[in-house]
Amino acid sequence: MSNKDIGSCFYELKPGDPEYKALTQNVVQLKHSFAFYYSGRNAFLAVFNDIESKTTINKIWLPSYYCDTVVNLINSNFKNVAYYNIDPFHFESDIDVTEFASKDDIVILNNFWGLSTFKDYSNIKEKPIIIEDHTHGWLSKQSLNSNADYCICSLRKTYPIPLGAITWMPNSNSKQTPYKDAKDTAIIKAYLSFNNSMKLKRAFIKKDKNTKDEYLDLLNNGESILCESNSYNKPNNELLDQINKYLAFNPNIVKANNFNQIIGSINKTHKFKILKREGFTPFGLLLLFKSEKLFISFKNWLISNNIYPAHLWPNTKTESEWKYLFNLHIDFRYNIEDISYLVEKINIWIKNNV
Ligand SMILES: Cc1ncc(COP(=O)(O)O)c(C=O)c1O
Repeated sequence: MSNKDIGSCFYELKPGDPEYKALTQNVVQLKHSFAFYYSGRNAFLAVFNDIESKTTINKIWLPSYYCDTVVNLINSNFKNVAYYNIDPFHFESDIDVTEFASKDDIVILNNFWGLSTFKDYSNIKEKPIIIEDHTHGWLSKQSLNSNADYCICSLRKTYPIPLGAITWMPNSNSKQTPYKDAKDTAIIKAYLSFNNSMKLKRAFIKKDKNTKDEYLDLLNNGESILCESNSYNKPNNELLDQINKYLAFNPNIVKANNFNQIIGSINKTHKFKILKREGFTPFGLLLLFKSEKLFISFKNWLISNNIYPAHLWPNTKTESEWKYLFNLHIDFRYNIEDISYLVEKINIWIKNNV
């Protein structure tokens, strides 16, 4: 394996790195007017503030299966939160938000793993306000063709940047969501913690330095301080530069190549399903399990081989029989050799668990 580990958080990249070259070879033309924020949650607060400046929010509808940190943020800021049922593992657009939400309600539609598509509500008069969350689908089909009132994306899940999120309004192209100018020491502390963590992870990956415990501590520290931030301030210039450096590079080309390599060489199994949709590039290698025991066995096996899957999302519930989901990053950090290593380890687990 050429990379020292697979999965988990990003590390700082420099222009001479092969990973940097892999990411920056595909450029896209972005057409919207964007506003940038420190975090996806800050971006949501900016959107809510913009909506509140124009109307009184009635209800906020969240998908029944969704990121815990966003659910917590919204519940701690609003009383009128409701949930609609969604199957996060099937992607044809079968929900119609006008069946449960009315005008002055907000509906958050999550683009699940970059594979979702949604109905176009833009010409319906008495419709709720639609916010699409493209955190797992930056530059996916739905994010590029959205007709929602607002779109957000936490960019730090896609690019090697310590923090960073974006909002845009596909239908009012010249408008941007607002900024607050509030004292928010939490967001600055979180930024510094993530930034230092990424530098120390670089030293671990590239220079073989013994910094793993330290960068993981800084990462966990950053994640917990981030939950204390409740503003939507404009990012400092350093972060704006970091975001702008990567924003127009399409991460999905390398992901699609890596995904095709995996699909072509992974052994057949009934122990998990691979989430995919014809013509779409998934956020990562998404493996869905029915048995919690096998899910844990798989995780332990991968970790013992320096592969770190992420459980999406441990505190969320679904009626589905198949409900334990891992994401494995397969982005520009990993070349053919790394992907072969990943497949080899997964195939060994499959063989040992027939
Ligand atoms: C789907 C989704 N949306 C939004 C967010 C929030 O992004 P951030 O952690 O940058 O606030 C997350 C994060 O964890 C997420 O998974």
